[in-house]
Formats: sequence, structure tokens, C-alpha cells
Amino acid sequence: MMAEKGGHKHFMHKEILEQPRAVADTVRGRMLLTEGDVHFEGWNLTPEKVRSLSKITILACGTSWHSGVAGKHMIETLARLPVEVELASEFRYRDPIVESSHLAVAISQSGETADTLAAFKEAKSRGATAIAICNVIGSAMTREAEFSVMTNAGPEIGVASTKAFTTQLVALYLLAVKLGRMRGTLSVAAAQEHLTHLTQIPKMIEDVLKCEPAVKRVAREFMNAQDFLFLGRGPMHPVALEGALKLKEISYIHAEGYAGGEMKHGPIALIDEKMPVVVIAPKQPHVAYEKIIGNIEEVRARGGQVIAVIDEDDAQVGGLANHVIRIPAACALLAPVVATIPLQLLAYHVAEMRGNDVDQPRNLAKSVTVE
Ligand code: G6P
Repeated sequence: MMAEKGGHKHFMHKEILEQPRAVADTVRGRMLLTEGDVHFEGWNLTPEKVRSLSKITILACGTSWHSGVAGKHMIETLARLPVEVELASEFRYRDPIVESSHLAVAISQSGETADTLAAFKEAKSRGATAIAICNVIGSAMTREAEFSVMTNAGPEIGVASTKAFTTQLVALYLLAVKLGRMRGTLSVAAAQEHLTHLTQIPKMIEDVLKCEPAVKRVAREFMNAQDFLFLGRGPMHPVALEGALKLKEISYIHAEGYAGGEMKHGPIALIDEKMPVVVIAPKQPHVAYEKIIGNIEEVRARGGQVIAVIDEDDAQVGGLANHVIRIPAACALLAPVVATIPLQLLAYHVAEMRGNDVDQPRNLAKSVTVE
């Protein structure tokens, strides 16, 4: 069993460490740097079709839904097309507005999640063009889709999703560049620049994995906390959601992910000296940095413990937070890939220190194929 886990104690740990390779496999053969374009095997959407799209509806559950929220930022920024990110379990049970000018994108690691599959079929039957982002070749979702972008993460065994999430983010980024080129919102030069950012990501993941000893120290200090709050703005909002979900799933500590600006509308009431608050705060062009600093000061003023995930060269936040985890600075749209990794490690180490069954958390299934 240990051999299967490549010497790791748990599959989850193995899968976290596999991410530089997994992400490189998502990109391999798809990036056309000279042309400033993206190649997807089986892509059958004509330029006319892509230009006539009026909306993208992303359908997903759980961690895959979080990648969809990050994907919204990518697609809206690069392809200037409105994106709605729907919880598949809600979408399927209402009377959703779907038109033939809509593109439905199902995101699913397993390709078998019942809610996502049903929502996808619903969107398709109402006339949307339907494509999937999926990790399992031949799964139900890929059979239903007109074509699929495979994430190529390799088998994911740990119930808590890790490499499936980061590879979904990368697939969405490639999709955003492709749509941007086809819709004329990205020039060749701009696409080349975005793709160049992508080439740096596997190395950045290798570098960010070196934060594990620092994350372990934080895990030890807070392993008995009752609640955690995760805050992020813009593309870091889905990272906050995912960080909280990971912790909940395997450590059984109550955790909430919030958009930083919403803290004053509720979670601030919870903050006291027992409350660790993870603030995901790499510098981002569209997110006023001062606002993040404001969040940190508000937490500190109430005695809360701030764990800040910040850029390597950040000189400002370091002094304000109780603990810092430094990560390599990626471009804003790809920063979620890098920033998520310390949070996966945090959840992993807290759960491991608490003696939990990391790979098989109670009450959860890897793939929920029933309602
Ligand atoms: C289950 C898993 C989650 C996963 C979700 C969606 O709840 O425990 O890790 O994110 O299903 O799964 P999918 O295979 O559709 O991405």
C-alpha cells in the first residue's frame, strides 16, 4: 500500500506533491506559443459559433465549482464573455434560462457526479452547446459532451480533491485564451504573454511546495481551533472557498471562505482571539491591496490570529500578520493555482495531526453518483 502511495503516508499528500507534473500534463501539446493560440484535440466550435455566444454557464459541484468561480474571472477577463457559475444541484431543479447562444461547460473530476450530469443534460436539451472539462476519459460527462478538455491529472484517489482542482484551473485558463483569440478580444501578442505566464506555473508550484515546513508549523499551532475563516478578493475568493472546504472535509474543523469585502457583513462578529483567519493576499492588479490590509487590521484589532499567504517579496503585510506563508508571484489569473497549494497542505497537516483518516474522510465519497 505504501508503494502505491509512492512512499507517502496518504494519497492526498502524494497528489499534492504531484501537481507540478499534473499541471505540465494539462498544458502539454496544447500551447501554441508562436501562434499565440491554444490547440484542443477534438475542438469543433467554429469561429462564427464562438463569436455568436452570448453567455457561458459553468455547471459543477464541490471543488469543481470553485474552479468554475476562478474560471469566470479568467474567461470574462480574456474573452469578455459573461459567465455564470451554477451549482449543478440547484440548476437542475429550477427552470433555468438556456438559449442556443449559450455554452454550457461542465467541470468534473470524475465525470460521474449525478447532479452535474443531470444539469449538463438539461442545458443540452434546452439547446446549449455542451462541453466538458474532465479528468476521466470515457466517463459519462465526456460521453454527453460535444467534446471534452481532459485535465490529464492522472488518477486522484484521495477523496479531498487537490491536483484535479489545479489542473481544472489550468484547463480553464487555456480555454479562456482560446475563446479570447477566437472572439478577437486577445491579440496574438497578448495571448503569447498569457501563455508565457502559464509556462512558469509548474516551476512555481515546485517552489511553493517548499513552504511545507512553514505550513506545518502553522498547522501545529492551530490544529485544535474550533473555527477558521479564509478571506480572499477577486480571483482569490475561490481560493478562500477551496481552502475552507479542504479543511472542513478532512480535519472536521468548521471553516468558512469569504470574499474579503463581505467580512464586515457577518463574519467579523465571530472574530476573537481564538479565531485563526487565513488571508490570501498576493498582490493583484484589480484588487486594491489596501483593502486586504484593511481586512487584516480589522482582524488584528479584534484579537484574531492572521495567517497571511503573500508574495515572496511582500514587505508590507509580513509585519501585520501573526504568521506568513510566502508564495511565488504569479499573474493574477493564475495566482489561484499557486495560492491554493499551501491551503491544501494546511488542511492535510491539520487532519494528519488530529489523527484523521485523510484519504477517506467520514461521510464523504470521492464521486457522488446519487442525488
Ligand atoms: C465529491 C467529492 C469532491 C468533489 C465533488 C465533485 O463531493 O468529495 O471532492 O469536488 O464530489 O466531484 P466531481 O468529480 O464532479 O468533480
